[in-house]
Amino acid sequence: MKMTPMAPDCGVQIDGVALAECSDSEMQAIKQAIYEHGVAVFRDQDFTPEAHITFGKRWGGIDVNNYFPLQDDYNEIAVVKKEPDQQTNIGGAWHTDHSYDQIPAMGSVLVARHLPPSGGDTMWAHMGAAYDALSDELKAKIEGLEAFHTADHVYKADGLYAKTDMGRDLRGQDMKTGAVHPVVIRHPQTGRRLLYVNNAFTIHFVGQTREQSLPLLQELYSAALTATNQCRLQWQPGTVAIWDNRTSWHNAINDYQGHYREMHRITLSGEALAA
Ligand code: OGA
Ligand code: MN
Repeated sequence: MKMTPMAPDCGVQIDGVALAECSDSEMQAIKQAIYEHGVAVFRDQDFTPEAHITFGKRWGGIDVNNYFPLQDDYNEIAVVKKEPDQQTNIGGAWHTDHSYDQIPAMGSVLVARHLPPSGGDTMWAHMGAAYDALSDELKAKIEGLEAFHTADHVYKADGLYAKTDMGRDLRGQDMKTGAVHPVVIRHPQTGRRLLYVNNAFTIHFVGQTREQSLPLLQELYSAALTATNQCRLQWQPGTVAIWDNRTSWHNAINDYQGHYREMHRITLSGEALAA
C-alpha cells in the first residue's frame, strides 16, 4: 500500500489495495491511517453492495442511519442522493455525522454510484489540527466544557430539511435525539485531542443557554478551519472514501444543479467519547 497525503494536515490517498479483499494487516493499517488523517480515499475499487456490507461488518459493526432512505435490497446501505430537480443536497455544510447519538458512529464508508458530469466534490477538515491551532486563550475557555447535541431541529416534521425539497425523501421525522459530549475529546484510538462541536448538531454548552453559547461556538467554528487542515475529493467512478467522524468534519459541495448524484453510505459503529 502507498499512502499519499491529500493536504498538509488532512486526508490521505491509499493506493495499491483492493478494499474488498484486503488482508488483516492491511485492514489494521487502513484503520490507523483513517484515525490519524481523518479520511482516506481509495480509487478504482470494485465494491459491490455485498462487498460494501462485508467490509463494514469486518471493520466492527454497522449503524443504520435513521433518516436517509435505505437501499431497497440492502437495508444496511443508506442512499445519499440528489435528483436533477432538487435544489437541496444532504450534508451541504460543515458537519460531523451522528454527534447527536450517545454513542456516535465512528465514521462512514461512502461509495460513488452515480456522479454528475462535474462538481459534487466532498471536503473534510481535521479537528485535531483545528484544536492545535486554537489560541491558548480559547483552549483555556473550552477546557472541561461539555456540549449538548441533537438532530431534531434538522429532521423533524417542521425541521430544516422538511422546509426544503429534500424533505420528501427523509425518514425518521418522529425520532428524538440528544447527547452530551465533551467539547474537546480524546480520540479513542490515537489519544489525540480533537475539537468536537459542529454547526449542524451542537446546540449549547452544558450550563448555558443557546444565546449564551452562540458567540463562543461561532468563534470555534471559524477557528476550526485553518489554512492547511482541509482536503477536497474529486470523485470518480470506483472511488471510495472512509472517514472518521471524531477526527474530521465534512461538507458535500452542492454545485451540480440539474444533475443526478447518488452515493451509498455504510455507517460504522463507534464508542462513547471522553475528554
Ligand atoms: C454523508 C455526507 C457527503 C457527500 O453521507 O454523511 O455528508 O459528499 N455525504 O455526499
Ligand atoms: Mn455527513
